Amino acid sequence: MCAKLTKPHIVVEPPGPRAREIVEKDKQYLMQSFVRWYPLVVERAEDYVIYDVDGNAYIDLNAGLGVLNVGSTNPEVVKAATEQLKKFTHYSLTDFYYKNAVDLAEKLVNIAPVEKPAKVFYTNSGAESIEASIKAARYSTGRQYLIAFLGAFHGRTMGAVSLTASKPVQRKGFAPLLPSVIHVPYPYPYRCPFGTDDPEECGERTIGFLEEWVFGKLVDPTEVAAVIAEPIQGEGGYIVPPDNFFPKLVNLLRRHGILFVSDEVQAGICRTGKWFAIEHWNVKPDIIASAKAIAGGLPLGAVIGTDKAMSIGPGGHASTFGGNPVSVAAALAVIDFIEKNKLCERAARLGEKVIKRFQEAMNETQLIGDVRGKGLMIGVELVRDKKTKEPAKEELAEILMRLFKKGYLVIGAGVSTIRIAPPLTIDEEALMNAVEAIIEEIKKVEKERRK
Ligand SMILES: Cc1ncc(COP(=O)(O)O)c(C=O)c1O
Repeated sequence: MCAKLTKPHIVVEPPGPRAREIVEKDKQYLMQSFVRWYPLVVERAEDYVIYDVDGNAYIDLNAGLGVLNVGSTNPEVVKAATEQLKKFTHYSLTDFYYKNAVDLAEKLVNIAPVEKPAKVFYTNSGAESIEASIKAARYSTGRQYLIAFLGAFHGRTMGAVSLTASKPVQRKGFAPLLPSVIHVPYPYPYRCPFGTDDPEECGERTIGFLEEWVFGKLVDPTEVAAVIAEPIQGEGGYIVPPDNFFPKLVNLLRRHGILFVSDEVQAGICRTGKWFAIEHWNVKPDIIASAKAIAGGLPLGAVIGTDKAMSIGPGGHASTFGGNPVSVAAALAVIDFIEKNKLCERAARLGEKVIKRFQEAMNETQLIGDVRGKGLMIGVELVRDKKTKEPAKEELAEILMRLFKKGYLVIGAGVSTIRIAPPLTIDEEALMNAVEAIIEEIKKVEKERRK
């Protein structure tokens, strides 16, 4: 971990001159299909501290989009990857064998909440893990329909984006998408699509909708291969479903032989205080899609599923780089580091502290409408009015920009939610200072907008 820095260190107001130059060049040479919240240009990083090209030091509260759970340049991950780099960097797992890929698969099967015997398929990203999950589900059930949730984000490749429904811009212009995909409402307790304020009733009504309207009017359940869900919706706004939802959902799916795919790309690897977020509800998915944090910043994804669900035979699916030995070495080091340092437990403890402070802050400002989360996957939803719940979208952008200029790297999710997802290694004092800085900026923006 890095020399302890508990507050940012800003030497030039960002973006500084070097950052501005690189941002201009980016505009010239890169396809501008990304949404950047602010012009941070990274030069190096150490644990939860990110340094920009102008010498500013920032506190990382987004972990490079949910990837750096063990911190940036984690020495044990760097060591494992470096040692592997010197041995061999690639020798296609799709055609040959190597030991660390088998060792990691064994580890993943043991930590994943799926029925054993289970198997792993390696990919390079979250979207590829979703693609592989779709293929495994269709192949093993012989069924074609897929059900996903409104508000979900599952990635950008054609199969994954067909399941994604968090913002129209993510789908606009790319039709035709994958056929036989049905979207249903997600139980978002703060804004339940069924108009109730009672979270459990919201969960109940969502299941009822699926049973009565989807299976009753639209598709025979025997034609549905899988339901794919994020245990906590990420890009959609860090939305935690009510506690009755997943147990009821999985119960319904079992009755119809439909597979349950848990998309743990963002919520997995101890982010929520458990290895996989679905463990909070004591249900066992047939397939888990993982990626992001699994290899500490190196590209790797893994699909972990029951033998029955992972039944695609020889020649049916493969990826040249999937299970790259350097990424796999890094992933083994990540798991080891998390276990040794009890990062699941740490995420749970710090998360409770952060949530408590934001809940208190709800009495100090009108702008915070809802605080939710598990472990260090926390959403603070901003609203203009607590009664109408009008999203405070512009206020969110303003607050994030101000925090950036002060040295805090925080981004948004959904329409107007502050997303808090730091490395699980973050120094406690640095984290709580950041929380106070966020609350302070919320209050300032609220006051200025009221004038
Ligand atoms: C829940 C979830 N699934 C899938 C993806 C896609 O992952 P990738 O960007 O690695 O393709 C993301 C990315 O943010 C995600 O949050």
